[in-house]
Amino acid sequence: MKSSLIYLALVLCFGQVSLRVLVDSFPDKSSQIHAVLVGGGAGVATDYNDQANICHAYHVLINHGVLPENIVLMIYDDVAYAPENPFPGKLFNQPNGTDVYAGCIKDYTGNDVNPETFMKVLKGDKELAKKGKKVLTSGPDDHVFIYFSDHGSVGAIYFQQTALTSQDLNETLTYMHQNNMYGKLTFYLEACESGSMFENILSRNINIYAITSANPGEPGYATYCDVPGFPFCLSDEFSAAWMPDTEHHDITKETLETQYEHVVKKVASSHPQQYGDKSLANLVISQFQGTSKSQNLPKEPMDSFERINQRDEALHYWRRRLESASENEYNEVRLKLSSIIAGRRFYDMAIRRVIGQLCSAGYCKSVNSVLNTRSSLFNHKAYSMLVKKFESSCINLGVNTYGLQYMYAFANIIESKDHFKEDDLQLMMKILEEACSIFIVNHAFDAIV
Ligand SMILES: *[C@@H]1O[C@H](CO)[C@@H](O)[C@H](O)[C@H]1NC(C)=O
Ligand SMILES: *[C@@H]1O[C@H](CO)[C@@H](O)[C@H](O)[C@H]1NC(C)=O
Repeated sequence: MKSSLIYLALVLCFGQVSLRVLVDSFPDKSSQIHAVLVGGGAGVATDYNDQANICHAYHVLINHGVLPENIVLMIYDDVAYAPENPFPGKLFNQPNGTDVYAGCIKDYTGNDVNPETFMKVLKGDKELAKKGKKVLTSGPDDHVFIYFSDHGSVGAIYFQQTALTSQDLNETLTYMHQNNMYGKLTFYLEACESGSMFENILSRNINIYAITSANPGEPGYATYCDVPGFPFCLSDEFSAAWMPDTEHHDITKETLETQYEHVVKKVASSHPQQYGDKSLANLVISQFQGTSKSQNLPKEPMDSFERINQRDEALHYWRRRLESASENEYNEVRLKLSSIIAGRRFYDMAIRRVIGQLCSAGYCKSVNSVLNTRSSLFNHKAYSMLVKKFESSCINLGVNTYGLQYMYAFANIIESKDHFKEDDLQLMMKILEEACSIFIVNHAFDAIV
């Protein structure tokens, strides 16, 4: 009896010792890094930088020893070979940088890059795997790194076809937790208003730590927007901060917290945020981004470059195109630019009219009261349904990205205790649909960007 007790004590003790060793020597065979890298959108004007960010991140992970078979990469991939790309088949993520498109292995491209597929990838969907498509195969001891770069609004991030709402993302992450798909998970999110994807929704006790490029109520900024020879921006401030930070420091020593602090210091135009289980920030970066040390990589550019609101990327692109337009294309480019400006003016008016209809029906006090407030989003569930209704009945915001900046108005309406009750949602969406059919649906623009 006594000896078996001693034995038990030894087992417990050694069990603990060996567990410690396992953690310290991470990763070993039973514990690996898996990653999902996603750029949601399409088009050189607004998504050159996002697709370059994602391919760059792929190299960052590979260079630090993450196994290629453990990385799932999704980009629309319409940019590298677009006729507007001055360097066909190449993507640059910083001035005088290396071509990040070379060796960037894409698992999903074109219309396969959508929220449904992204969520299936995260959930390790068996059907998709059966079709030979790559999905997350991580287990309970693995560390998962997710990086998304694209457009955002309050409570949603956008793919070309449709939105992924905070509610959908929360359900997906919760599923991953319940199904033991990770030991620890970090999520780096580059998008406008990206804090709103996690604020008041991401649980603090499911071993997930998230960093966002912007707080819940501000746009993110693109950077390297005036590099000679490139009419578009090469990167975004947050991405152009965290990747070089990983590349130029010893990530086997630097913690996620320190990386976050470096990023906060470097990002000048927005306010990166942290969410979820912040105790994970004490771990070293190599627990998520690869275990080998950084190599000699191109220096970060020292000059300062133009930064622009991510919401103005298309405008910026066409203005730059106009500056360098040949006589032959000048009129065409000028027309394109004026049609973008006209589309914006149209939408500014149209959205006021749509909100006006909702206010007339009693869901808000006045258009100005809705547009001049910013309530933080708590009812992610109702809002998520509204976003989907808006996309199906009003306009595709993945394509018409100018509309994203107004989505906060709908969050305000849902959060207004005086005017909105959850029971009203169905009726309100009906009124929204009617208003959109009058004021938005039949617009005459190619895309409102
Ligand atoms: C988000 O997920 C967590 C569990 O991970 C859950 O407790 C919480 O209720 C969810 N939030 C919403 C708004 O559904
Ligand atoms: C890029 O390279 C060119 C030519 O080598 C040099 O003149 C320029 O200063 C470099 N720009 C940056 C940002 O390093």
